[in-house]
Amino acid sequence: MAEFIVYEQKDKIAVLTISREKALNALNSQVLDELDAALDAIDFDTVRALVLTGAGEKSFVAGADIGEMSTLTKAEGEAFGKKGNDVFRKLETLPIPTIAAVNGFALGGGCEISMSCDIRICSDNAIFGQPEVGLGITPGFGGTQRLARLVGPGMAKQMIYSARNIKADEALRIGLVNAVYPQEELMAAAEKLASTIAQNAPIAVRACKKAINEGLEADMDEAIVIEEKLFGSCFETEDQKAGMANFLEKDKEKKLKVVPFQNK
Ligand code: CAA
Repeated sequence: MAEFIVYEQKDKIAVLTISREKALNALNSQVLDELDAALDAIDFDTVRALVLTGAGEKSFVAGADIGEMSTLTKAEGEAFGKKGNDVFRKLETLPIPTIAAVNGFALGGGCEISMSCDIRICSDNAIFGQPEVGLGITPGFGGTQRLARLVGPGMAKQMIYSARNIKADEALRIGLVNAVYPQEELMAAAEKLASTIAQNAPIAVRACKKAINEGLEADMDEAIVIEEKLFGSCFETEDQKAGMANFLEKDKEKKLKVVPFQNK
C-alpha cells in the first residue's frame, strides 16, 4: 500500500497524485519507488490518458528531497540521479499521453517530472525553476536535457545557471506550459483535456506519441521512417476502419471535431 501516491481511475482516464504534503511533495527514495510501482500497475487496456499532479494547493513537487541528498557520497549521488532518471524515463515513455497539472511549486525535480509528461498546464500560482546550482549540484533528474529541448538551450541555460524561478505567465511565454488556469479550475481542465484525448482512437494516439518522441531523438531521414512505420501500423485496426467509415458515412457530427486548446 503506497503511503505517498494516490492513484485514481475515472472511466478512461487516471489521476496520479504525489501526496507528501508536509514536505511540499518532495521526492525522496520512497516516493520514487512508489511512483515507479504505480506506473507499473497502470492498466493500459482501460486507461487512455494520465494526469499527474501534487497534493494540496501550494505545491506540485518542490524537488528532490534535500534532507536525503545532504549526506550522499559521489557514488550515492549518482545512484540517486539514476533512480530518479529511470522512473522519469518510464513516465516519459508510457504508452499513453500524460498531462502534468502543475498546481504550485515545480522546482528542481518538480520541474523535471513535469517535463517528463507530454503536456504541462498549470495554476496561476505555479512557480517553475531549477534551483540546484544554489544547492551546489546540477539538476539531476533530467533537467539539463529536457529543459533545453523544451524551451531551447539559451533560455534553459539562463534558468539553470541563474537558479531563477519563473512564474506561470513566464512559463507560458517561453513554452514550458501550454495553458494557465485559476487554481480551482486546474484539475477540471486537466481532466477535460485527458477525456478529450481519451475519446480519440487509442491505437492512433499512442502511435502519435511514439512517433513524436522517437522522431525527436532521430535525424529527419530516420524520423520520417519511424512515422511511416507507425502510420502503417494503424491500418487494418478497428480504430482505422471505424474512424474512416465514420467519415465516409458523411456524418457531420462525427467528422468535424474542433476543440479549443484553452477555453478561456
Ligand atoms: N526537500 C525536502 N524538504 C522540502 C523540500 C525539498 N526539496 N521543499 C520543501 N521541503 C519541506 C521543508 O523543509 C518544510 O519542512 P518542515 O515543515 O519540516 O520544516 C516544508 O517542506 C515546507 O517548506 P517551507 O517551510 O520551506 O515552505 P515555504 O513556503 O517557506 O517555502 C519553497 C517553499 C520556496 C518551495 C521552499 O520549501 C524551498 O525552497 N524548497 C526547496 C526547493 C528546491 O530547492 N528544490 C530543488 C531540490 S534539488 C533537486 O530537485 C535535485 C534534482 O534535480 C534531482
